[in-house]
Amino acid sequence: MKAITVEPKKPGTARYEDFPEPDAREGSVLVEAIAVGVCGTDVEIVEGKYGWAPPAAARLVLGHESLGRVVDPGPSGGLKKGDLVVGIVRRPDPIPCSSCAVGEWDMCRNGQYTERGIKQIHGFMSERWRIEPEYAIKVDPSLGILGVLLEPTTVVTKAWAHVISIGVRTFWEPRNVLVTGAGPIGLLAAMIGKQRGLEVHVLDRAESGPKPDLVRALGATYHSGTVAGVGFDPDIIIECTGVGQVIADSFQVISSGGIVCLTGVGQGGASNKASVADVAAAAVLKNIVIVGSVNANKRHWYRAGEFLARADRTWLSRLITRRVKPENFEQALKREPDDIKVVIQFAEI
Ligand code: BGC
Repeated sequence: MKAITVEPKKPGTARYEDFPEPDAREGSVLVEAIAVGVCGTDVEIVEGKYGWAPPAAARLVLGHESLGRVVDPGPSGGLKKGDLVVGIVRRPDPIPCSSCAVGEWDMCRNGQYTERGIKQIHGFMSERWRIEPEYAIKVDPSLGILGVLLEPTTVVTKAWAHVISIGVRTFWEPRNVLVTGAGPIGLLAAMIGKQRGLEVHVLDRAESGPKPDLVRALGATYHSGTVAGVGFDPDIIIECTGVGQVIADSFQVISSGGIVCLTGVGQGGASNKASVADVAAAAVLKNIVIVGSVNANKRHWYRAGEFLARADRTWLSRLITRRVKPENFEQALKREPDDIKVVIQFAEI
């Protein structure tokens, strides 16, 4: 079969190549790939900045935002041939730590977790892949190709779950949320904010293109200036850019008792010792909580499926702005101005 592989930590090594059929040890369910979403993490892996091959292997099959069709469900009773499934990305560490032991692998405490297409387990950018039945999530067949949005939705579902559980530690009546960044993560975070009945604001650099329209189509307000200039004190900020200045400004504008949830991974930017102390002072004097959030566990996968199933299909389909054939994967990794979610399509749905 064909797969898109990379030698992690070595830029320029990604290839679409012949690759052995998936190993039976990767799971009893055999799946035919339909589509795999591309995200910033894939770009970082291809640029040689992130990623780990499986033990004793040189190359890693890329891809963690999957959608596939069951070819052979194996002995498990829960799946049947033809079901649409998405693979959970993370696996618990082998020890396991207390978080992994109770199924909260997203909170792994010793860093020895593995992740498909990212850390030590092959991903989903291959014509066929295998998965353990307990890590295969069935998606609502009416979602069709939109099921490929499930994995990024799980990431923001977890972020929201943590915001809510932090908020309810005290008397809390949030009215509004500011989402920074109108990429797929930001837009899906905004979609959940609307489903939660909040007044939703989204800020992004783009002044034209699909982002402002997508935000307005949700019934949310679009801002293209700076966070400092949004003109209100958000009760919640879901930060999805990883940009230092946006993060620093978020700490300034968040309301007293507010929660800033960081989901973007960046580097450098607006930070020095004085500003760290200023952030700490504001956090103390305004009871602000700053929380980081990565990955998702099975509870979040379940809820994310509900959020997606409730979402407007036309709106969701506008998030997929390009579909690229696997042999042209390099085009999928290059950002174009109006890109939101680019998917590599392996088979027709
Ligand atoms: C993935 C997560 C993963 C994280 C860190 C993200 O792109 O969506 O599942 O935990 O990268 O590797």
